[in-house]
Amino acid sequence: MADFDTLISNGHIIDGTGEKRFLSNLIIHNDKIISLFHPSKKQISIRNKNYLIKDLRFKRKIDAQFHIIAPGFIDVHTHDDQNVFDDPSMSCKISQGVTTCIVGNCGISLAPFNFSGNVPAPIPLLGKKEVFKYARVRDYRDNFIKNPSSINVALLTGHSMLRVQAMNGDYNRAANNEEIKTMQDLLHKAMKDGSIGLSTGLAYPAASSAPTEEIIELAKVLKEYNGIFTTHMRNEGDNLINSVKETIKIGEVSGVRTVISHHKCAGRTNWGKSKKSLKLIENAKNNQHLDLDCYPYTASSTMLLKDFIARADKVLVTWSDKVKDLKVNDINNIAEEFDCSVDDVVDKLYPAGAIYFQMDDDDLNRILKFNGSMIGSDGLPGDKHPHPRLWGTFPRVLGKYSREMQLFSLEEAIFKMTGKSAATFGLEKRGFIKEGYFADIVIIDEQNVIDNATYEKPLIPSSGIEQVFTNGQLVWKNLKAKLNFPGKFLEGKKFN
Ligand code: ZN
Ligand code: CU
Repeated sequence: MADFDTLISNGHIIDGTGEKRFLSNLIIHNDKIISLFHPSKKQISIRNKNYLIKDLRFKRKIDAQFHIIAPGFIDVHTHDDQNVFDDPSMSCKISQGVTTCIVGNCGISLAPFNFSGNVPAPIPLLGKKEVFKYARVRDYRDNFIKNPSSINVALLTGHSMLRVQAMNGDYNRAANNEEIKTMQDLLHKAMKDGSIGLSTGLAYPAASSAPTEEIIELAKVLKEYNGIFTTHMRNEGDNLINSVKETIKIGEVSGVRTVISHHKCAGRTNWGKSKKSLKLIENAKNNQHLDLDCYPYTASSTMLLKDFIARADKVLVTWSDKVKDLKVNDINNIAEEFDCSVDDVVDKLYPAGAIYFQMDDDDLNRILKFNGSMIGSDGLPGDKHPHPRLWGTFPRVLGKYSREMQLFSLEEAIFKMTGKSAATFGLEKRGFIKEGYFADIVIIDEQNVIDNATYEKPLIPSSGIEQVFTNGQLVWKNLKAKLNFPGKFLEGKKFN
């Protein structure tokens, strides 16, 4: 006799490599996948010991009934830095099958930050002043280890946080050499503390004055740790192509693995530019590690900012700190109600949040389909009325874009949210269904998986995500969080 934790039988395993599914049983023990074997087998070997199947006992047996078993999804683009503490069940993500979140994107991260002055946009997206209490990444890490969530977390260090600290709040200019040195020192510490890399938000006030050279000097630090560089580029509209070129240059000169965040073509006049941007990226891939992530919607969401309004077809204002009881409404209607200009509305409501309808389906499809593009939700958990991507991204890619539109196979869709992501971000022993790998697992009803969150009702869980395991523990079943918190702080692989 031998005792193990969990047997999942009769699953069609899609293992995260992009390869075709195969029928298999799977054994989980502690936090690992310890065996994969065909249901017809009578005898198996586990860690080089032979067992008869009939002699094995399990604490839990699950019949997958020929549904899909996949690696837990990795949301490579999140702003869940504080959400993992506010709602440790992380229902918005585990309900989609997500078991790992990369936090600290778009240049903003809760750590490292030691600054008491006013903060520029988009830093307030992460929360109110009191949540910024981690002078070092290790403080954030230790707090997560003490107060874990249902999902794993890996942290990017936000360039804007380094900037605001090093420049003592005077961020509307290029950093001088001394300030760059201060940022580099902070980044060295962050990487030693377990950050996996650096993110920028060059389109936002906090960082838009940073010249390319400033970013290159910081990216060079990453090289020493084999960290990753992710970027919300300087421009995703009229200057998209120049921004892609700038990103390629940063990656090329620094020699650092680079990811373009939420790649898109914003604004009608820029629709179609993804043909050129993806060509540039594809060519650059021959010489450097360059990847991208995207979310499956044609509207974006961030703070309510004047520059962002002009290029959108339609802007929904979703929250305001100044007008607490604001109803979600089109900015033009609010302007009419207030009897003022759209710019005045921004001044009256700021800080505030918005959803911008500004992308084209053809660009979106092309970017989603692009070889090796990864899925990241960019969800904003702090919003009372968030963009539906927070609750819907992953099932939407599986249900709408793979099953219904057949943009790519289910195997490829899953590769874009698991194996590809783990390999790119250096998450060791995750992202694949393999013996010896962590048991981050999702069971999916392939015929019914679909997002249900909408722009009107964004907080509705998806269908077809049946059971989810993080590090071997059940965290989601039958549309309910199990309130287990096995999530780990992931430090990423040090490649060298
Ligand atoms: Zn962003
Ligand atoms: Cu983002």
